[in-house]
Amino acid sequence: MSKIKILPSLLAADVGNLRGGVLRAAESGADALHIDIMDPHFVPNISFGPDVVRMAKAAAPELYRNVHLMMLRPDRYLAPFAEAGAQTIQIHVEADCDIGNTLIRIREIGLRPAIAINPETDVIRLKEYLGIVDEVLVMTVHPGFGAQKFIGECLDKVRWIRARKPDLDIMVDGGVNGETAAECVRAGVNMLVSGSYLYKQADMKKAMEDMRNV
Ligand code: DX5
Ligand code: ZN
Repeated sequence: MSKIKILPSLLAADVGNLRGGVLRAAESGADALHIDIMDPHFVPNISFGPDVVRMAKAAAPELYRNVHLMMLRPDRYLAPFAEAGAQTIQIHVEADCDIGNTLIRIREIGLRPAIAINPETDVIRLKEYLGIVDEVLVMTVHPGFGAQKFIGECLDKVRWIRARKPDLDIMVDGGVNGETAAECVRAGVNMLVSGSYLYKQADMKKAMEDMRNV
């Protein structure tokens, strides 16, 4: 498997200086930026819209934009996020739309399709999509908020997916820090999202290097 990639989650940046949060990730050598889009029908919170993705592209054009749609109807918002500069679009298997068709449309508009799964959802629901995505996002917290506690049982899903797909990108999101990162990588993860842990570091670059070498 390729080297471990680290994605700081912009949700954990200072909301009064999101542009600074993007620049900090870029200057620290992040492999990509994880941008959380929430609607209150899918999670009990609201976060960013397409303009934040556009700002990230303007601030650091070379920093890859991984956009996590925690939305009930992600199928209605593909065009605005594509136009704003999303490069990977992650939709949830729990969303209320035609999942397979939405993943195909993401690829048709030239972006990288990914499927995300919540902690309480049976991994078997991913099976029919594993052949048409480039990446799976296994949530290791209940989505909606940063700085929650890592749910280790979710790594069983990672092992299940990795056993079937040796080359697929598998990402985890939620509660990832210097310690839990090692467990994730042992289970077969190759992409780590980390929000509150990375943004509170004095030296984000070093924290990311340590995570790459766990
Ligand atoms: C949670 C979001 C995460 C969040 C992770 O709903 O999807 O991306 O920012 O934050 P930490 O790393 O603080 O758990
Ligand atoms: Zn996320």
